[in-house]
Amino acid sequence: MTTTTYESVKEQLVNEPKTWLITGVAGFIGSNLLETLLLLDQKVVGLDNFATGFQHNLDEVQSVVSQDQWVRFNFIEGDIRKLEDCQAACKNVDYVLHQAALGSVPRSIADPIATNETNISGFLNMLVAARDAQVTSFTYAASSSTYGDHPALPKVEDAIGNPLSPYAVTKYVNELYADVFARTYGFKTIGLRYFNIFGKRQTPDGAYAAVIPKWTAAMITGDEVFINGDGDTSRDFNFIENAVQANMLAATANDEAKNEVYNVAVGGRTTLNTLFTALQENLAVNGVEYTQDAVYRDFREGDVRHSQADISKIQNALNYEPQFDIIEGIEKAMPWYVTFLQKSL
Ligand SMILES: NC(=O)c1ccc[n+]([C@@H]2O[C@H](COP(=O)([O-])OP(=O)(O)OC[C@H]3O[C@@H](n4cnc5c(N)ncnc54)[C@H](O)[C@@H]3O)[C@@H](O)[C@H]2O)c1
Repeated sequence: MTTTTYESVKEQLVNEPKTWLITGVAGFIGSNLLETLLLLDQKVVGLDNFATGFQHNLDEVQSVVSQDQWVRFNFIEGDIRKLEDCQAACKNVDYVLHQAALGSVPRSIADPIATNETNISGFLNMLVAARDAQVTSFTYAASSSTYGDHPALPKVEDAIGNPLSPYAVTKYVNELYADVFARTYGFKTIGLRYFNIFGKRQTPDGAYAAVIPKWTAAMITGDEVFINGDGDTSRDFNFIENAVQANMLAATANDEAKNEVYNVAVGGRTTLNTLFTALQENLAVNGVEYTQDAVYRDFREGDVRHSQADISKIQNALNYEPQFDIIEGIEKAMPWYVTFLQKSL
């Protein structure tokens, strides 16, 4: 049997544990990274201000790791908008996984200043703190929104258009700063352009929830499911475990793979109409019958029409091999949503 690079990386980490910093650790992606790293007996520092993250995400991670693993986690409640919080968090860290940001296109349209402060000033603070702490690697959450209005499909890293929202501007500025830090200070980073990540602990609550948790929650509670536009809008939905893999490969990558951005996706394309049916069918398997039709309404401002990644760059440079397609991801995520939402009803 052949061993994948991801398996070798995990084995190597178990043999020689490292100290990681996860910013945004109480959020969806951050808490999934935390779970994987603690299960591999790593030391983890976590930074979060609970702007959009939750203590219950951390509690859930605690419940699935051993006591010995949990004591290797050091949580700092702090804010990336404060340089001193970033400096404290970066102390004695090997690998940084910078996830903290204010996500959501509509949130950024409603409050561009707040998004700018966290996503640009906070990002810059983290770069400075990590550079000064001489960490071994710095991996950050970039975004497919950087492709903006570029019409090409699938999306290739070099061909980007104009940003369509303040959020997209902030994520693009992150890439520009990262590149300048490599040129001027020799501090090389890796940006992961996530395409719609989904899975357990992605919050279904609030006006800015992502489509999969939002619809899943509506189907479980029997509420209306709204489709913005005609339902032919498409996305390259990517299950969280694939994104975790990308982070681990990026963090441990050699120098030649650095100072680059990579698409993190599956390379598929699913329309909102297809997603609606897939969620409905899977919830039925989990004992939830949703028989209502979707309600169509206007297209949403700032949204790109189609999104699909070319993932050959990350496959070639980091040996990334997505292990779950959208249907497999939905199968893994739905039981968690059913339990989580029925508990909170
Ligand atoms: N989920 C996706 O599909 C997706 C797609 C593209 C990019 N991203 C990026 O991935 C990263 C993680 O996203 P997520 O989906 O886990 O979102 P999330 O909202 O669940 O997690 C973000 C975390 O960052 C924390 N945070 C926000 N502002 C902070 C601040 N000033 N100081 C400290 N912590 C702060 C929040 O409290 C939260 O726990 C973000 O950078 C986001 O822009 C996500």
